[in-house]
Amino acid sequence: MFLMLSRRKNTALNSPGTALPGGRPAGKRSRLPRARLLAAGLVLFAALAAMGCTSGSYPVDIFYEQHYQQSYKSHEPPRLAGVAGAVAYYPPPPNTTDGSAPHLYDVNCQMCHGAGAKGDGPVLNLLISQYGYETAITPDLTTLTPEAIEGFLKVTARPFGPTSVMPPFGKLLSEDERWAIANYIDSLPK
Ligand code: HEC
Repeated sequence: MFLMLSRRKNTALNSPGTALPGGRPAGKRSRLPRARLLAAGLVLFAALAAMGCTSGSYPVDIFYEQHYQQSYKSHEPPRLAGVAGAVAYYPPPPNTTDGSAPHLYDVNCQMCHGAGAKGDGPVLNLLISQYGYETAITPDLTTLTPEAIEGFLKVTARPFGPTSVMPPFGKLLSEDERWAIANYIDSLPK
């Protein structure tokens, strides 16, 4: 395309120049060849312009230097891959959890089991009332021992089967976090 553009440009700029007999005064004789050359130049220009308009080339590509710009290149595939093993360096976002047992319970369990762990959280209420969810066993946790709660939390597959909404926490919570939650639930009023 670069080649074609420069050819087109040369044609546009230089054709009238080549058509003029350099420096010679325009006499009667030189008029006919000049007109012919001009006509030939126009035909050539039209042909090149038509070629430029066919599919496979850019219809408008005036600022072809753009291709060499780094900012333009960054949009083009394939992009440069990052250096293998590179580590992003920036200040980490501030931690929004204080790691306390009430907070762990709030962000992981409260939406289903309720603030008092009676099984009346807003998400579970919605699942039951709007989506006809039927609980496999009672979601009231206040009657359970911490050992029983931790036993359900440490599994890595859904503890009450694939149709249950109770998620597996074995990979999400550390052992310390599981025990902290279990003991917190045990401390709630029965
Ligand atoms: C998406 C909703 C949801 C979330 C989140 C959830 N649970 Fe459950 N959980 C349930 C439901 C519903 C049941 C009742 C069984 C069933 O239908 O799956 C249940 C059952 C239980 C049981 C067994 C209750 C019994 O009667 O033996 C325990 C223990 C339990 N959940 C603890 C937790 C803890 C602790 C968390 C947070 C770390 C948690 N659950 C998060 C929905 C949830």
